[in-house]
Amino acid sequence: MTIVPVSLGARSYDVRIESGLLDRAGEALVPYASGRPFLVVTDEHVAAAQWPRLDTALRRAGLAAELVTLPAGEATKSWPHLEALTDRMIAHGIERRDHVIALGGGVIGDLVGFAAAIVKRGCAFIQIPTTLLAQVDSSVGGKTAINSRAGKNLLGAFHQPSLVLIDPETLDTLGAREVRAGYAEVVKYGLIDDVAFFEWCEANGPALLAGDPDARAYAIARSVAAKAAIVAQDERETSGRRALLNLGHTFGHALEAETGFSDRLLHGEGVAAGMALAFSYSLRRGECSGQDAGRVVAHLRAAGLPASLRDAGVDAPGARLVDHMLHDKKMSGGTLPFLLARGIGQTYLAKDVDLADVAAFLDEVRG
Ligand code: NAD
Ligand code: GLY
Repeated sequence: MTIVPVSLGARSYDVRIESGLLDRAGEALVPYASGRPFLVVTDEHVAAAQWPRLDTALRRAGLAAELVTLPAGEATKSWPHLEALTDRMIAHGIERRDHVIALGGGVIGDLVGFAAAIVKRGCAFIQIPTTLLAQVDSSVGGKTAINSRAGKNLLGAFHQPSLVLIDPETLDTLGAREVRAGYAEVVKYGLIDDVAFFEWCEANGPALLAGDPDARAYAIARSVAAKAAIVAQDERETSGRRALLNLGHTFGHALEAETGFSDRLLHGEGVAAGMALAFSYSLRRGECSGQDAGRVVAHLRAAGLPASLRDAGVDAPGARLVDHMLHDKKMSGGTLPFLLARGIGQTYLAKDVDLADVAAFLDEVRG
């Protein structure tokens, strides 16, 4: 078992990572039981693929649970589902010290975390992430949200879980495209500030994507450790440190918006293409070498991820893509900070980016 602490004073918690952990989750959850059955919230795919394992583990430990199964998909991060879930939590008689369990990908984790943040002004929750994206990113760090009519993740709160249980074996039932999309967030940690990890990805990414258990466990543990360190330094994204985790997200957000936040381009795929564009744009600004920008594109493509506008299925004028960026929630004082790179492992926050120049760049790379 690898245990990664997230050090946040009174809000500190552990991320436990171990193959087969879901089958032993009962023991890990005993200290969090309150006498009332746990509410376990999941989606219909995970209910079929993974809930039986958790159900058995809870029973074996003598713990009772009630399962809430929601539709799978991004549309579940919405007001109607938040309202229904919070009603259910209140009807369950939940108290602040009770723990709601989120069993699923980033959609379930974000929704349950936000519900936990607001019911009775904040009750406790536990993350059991079942997608690679959720295991390496969204289950750690306490960002919770639903989508509003005006955009993604516009309604939310910072609310830390009490515990994160990661069983890499849950990925055995996840589709290959979803695994690849999550892998983009793994590569991100190497690109931000860890060139040695990017080199590890170049050497071991194919094994990870093929389901090699050691490669999977190592990548998850290293990614979680990287995220935990950043979150501990800048929990609420105020110093600029946590903003580094948004590498590829501004370009990616524009691509996701252009493709209607749909299955045409998964979030991780948008991040992959966005990271490649961030490196290409850094090259154009003379800040990053062509060799490094080329390595990023080559590795993402080798992993089966999009690394250009064309790969992402986007053929739109630069001005329109920049217009999507203006609706990004990272806009600050009318300007948009960009994550750019001086090389692999040398990402930095650029506050001097001229959006007309970004539009011109996007037109250049459109063809
Ligand atoms: P998701 O939760 O929609 O899961 C993807 C699909 O995989 C769904 O159909 C789901 O039912 C299925 N699934 C999940 N686990 C499975 C398993 N083990 N076996 C079989 N099927 C399984 O998507 P996601 O990529 O995990 O998360 C995307 C969401 O995460 C977005 O809403 C994004 O905004 C959010 N996010 C949040 C943060 C954060 O810091 N809070 C960070 C990144 C992304
Ligand atoms: N996924 C970005 C963050 O947690 O800050």
